[in-house]
Amino acid sequence: MNKKITVLPGDGIGAEVVEATIKVLDKVASLYDHQFEYKFADIGGTAIDKHDNPLPQETVDTCRSSDGVLLGAVGGPKWDNLPGNKRPEKGLLGIRKALNLFANLRPVTGHESMTDSSTLRKEVVDNVDLMIIRELTGGLYFGEPQERREVDGEEAAVDTLQYKKSEIERIVRQGFELAKVRRKKLTSVDKANVLESSRLWRETAIEVAKDYPEVELEHMLVDNAAMQLIRDPKQFDVVVTENMFGDILSDEASMLTGSLGMLPSASIGSEAPGLYEPVHGSAPDIAGEGKANPLATMASAAMMLKYSFGMHNEAASIDTAISSVLTNGHRTGDIAKDGEKILSTNEMTDKVLEALK
Ligand code: IPM
Ligand code: MG
Repeated sequence: MNKKITVLPGDGIGAEVVEATIKVLDKVASLYDHQFEYKFADIGGTAIDKHDNPLPQETVDTCRSSDGVLLGAVGGPKWDNLPGNKRPEKGLLGIRKALNLFANLRPVTGHESMTDSSTLRKEVVDNVDLMIIRELTGGLYFGEPQERREVDGEEAAVDTLQYKKSEIERIVRQGFELAKVRRKKLTSVDKANVLESSRLWRETAIEVAKDYPEVELEHMLVDNAAMQLIRDPKQFDVVVTENMFGDILSDEASMLTGSLGMLPSASIGSEAPGLYEPVHGSAPDIAGEGKANPLATMASAAMMLKYSFGMHNEAASIDTAISSVLTNGHRTGDIAKDGEKILSTNEMTDKVLEALK
């Protein structure tokens, strides 16, 4: 097959982890006789510096004309003091919205050899395997108005949490579809004891559930879910939740695997190409030093092969290579324990390339 991939390196370690991942994709292409053609485009702080815009139209067009998008990370202290609509993060939110990527899949899979990298006890995190589905184009991060205003004669700010029923329906349905092919349990996380948007969320989840009698639906309040994720993560199969809750819970869940540097993600919609990115950020503190852990981006590329290109064996070969590298004890700084040898991004990448078959 011949596939066009738009590459958005973004900021900080984004360029390094993306470069490492392209090497892996190229090896997969040669092993399985595919052709991947890459087009690079700017996003985030890099795009602000070059085009005075975190999401130039050209970037959106390039993404639209491709089969899949691979993104590194955006953001950094250099751009932290810019006004809200000029920040690098606006570029990321903007591309998700422009491509209508409403479903963000964040699988949390523990690797056996890594259980002692987690700050939690081994028996709690052993064989953790859950999927967080985060709604990605609605809720507080997009609601209008979002502004400063004067209230009672003093400075105030307002953000808006709004969901249309159709937006809830399609994401909850996505949750059921995934639960159906996994362990058939869906946990819908909300704050229905306080928020009206959550009450609509819960009602809608109950309605959609009628189409999926084989899947068990449970509702959990977000504060309880945050606690349960740490207390007993193995109770979860698929978790579906709104944008901000999903943002927060997925960072929390990453620690079940030992490091935020391990978590991949897929953002998918109904028509446009999917966007694949690690859950971690741009890590400006180590950017350019060749220390970054490229595994989450590689695993994100595996998700692209699986969800956008239907290349299941190819995707599995990347996941297997990553597992074997970890089993053989290879570690970047973020996942190494005291006294363990620390590999650079390039060294880690070579290990994965060697393991790929
Ligand atoms: C994430 C990130 C982004 C988000 C930021 C960088 C805008 O935290 O992908 O989880 O909040 O969605
Ligand atoms: Mg986040």
